Amino acid sequence: MRTILPFSIGAAAGAGALLFQREHRERTRLERLGAATLETLLDAIEANDADTGAHVRRVAAYALILGEAAELDDRTLRSIERVALFHDIGKLHEALTDIFHDVGKLSPEDRRAVMTHPLRGAQVLEPLSGFYPDLGKGVAAHHERWDGKGYPRGLKGKRIPLTARVVSIADSFDAITHRRRYSHAKSFEQATRAIAEGRGTQFDPELVDLFLSPPLLTEIDREARRANGPKSKHRNRRRGESQKAPDLTFRWRQPAGVSHLPDRHP
Ligand SMILES: [Fe+2]
Repeated sequence: MRTILPFSIGAAAGAGALLFQREHRERTRLERLGAATLETLLDAIEANDADTGAHVRRVAAYALILGEAAELDDRTLRSIERVALFHDIGKLHEALTDIFHDVGKLSPEDRRAVMTHPLRGAQVLEPLSGFYPDLGKGVAAHHERWDGKGYPRGLKGKRIPLTARVVSIADSFDAITHRRRYSHAKSFEQATRAIAEGRGTQFDPELVDLFLSPPLLTEIDREARRANGPKSKHRNRRRGESQKAPDLTFRWRQPAGVSHLPDRHP
């Protein structure tokens, strides 16, 4: 007796494989779109303010070193990466750009305005919340403090999203070691001392202990030298990846020593 069963199984397997391929292609396309969107946003930040562009890239690199040392899963690491790269996007707001570019001293009114940047950043990123639900929350919380004395909400301890707790340490470290309008750059040792002093007050104590552990400090130091060192080839976000990474990779690392493209309109 003839049976059609083998044919049916074969046809079903073929249709299943086709469906799988189609889904895989679609998923890859969406991931590529996501990476391109974030890369465009980062380019826009950099085009507007090269110093902020370089700052957020260094912060992302330090935050990832800390996150990896804390053995966080890949999903959380990607979330930390995004919060680090976009934590200061609120500073681009029209109401704040003059304040951030003015070299004079901050007035109390200026300070109050500056303190709005975490929430302004979260608002700017709101359209992406369906794709990256943790991004806005992390950005909004990057100036919260472990002791509850931060802003904008005065969140305390582990009520502060983990992404923001990690980024806060990386952000402070970079702010101290690089010259900004408010202060001159300080040494690596001064920066680590400031992080240690903020243990349990400004920062998550467990993360501080990890950040200040000798192997991690060596890695941070290496990264800081790389970021400030002579020009080197473009590197992707994962160490060791070649430049030929698939274009769904979110490439945000800039060549060392090159903070922005030359200005064509002097
Ligand atoms: Fe900030």
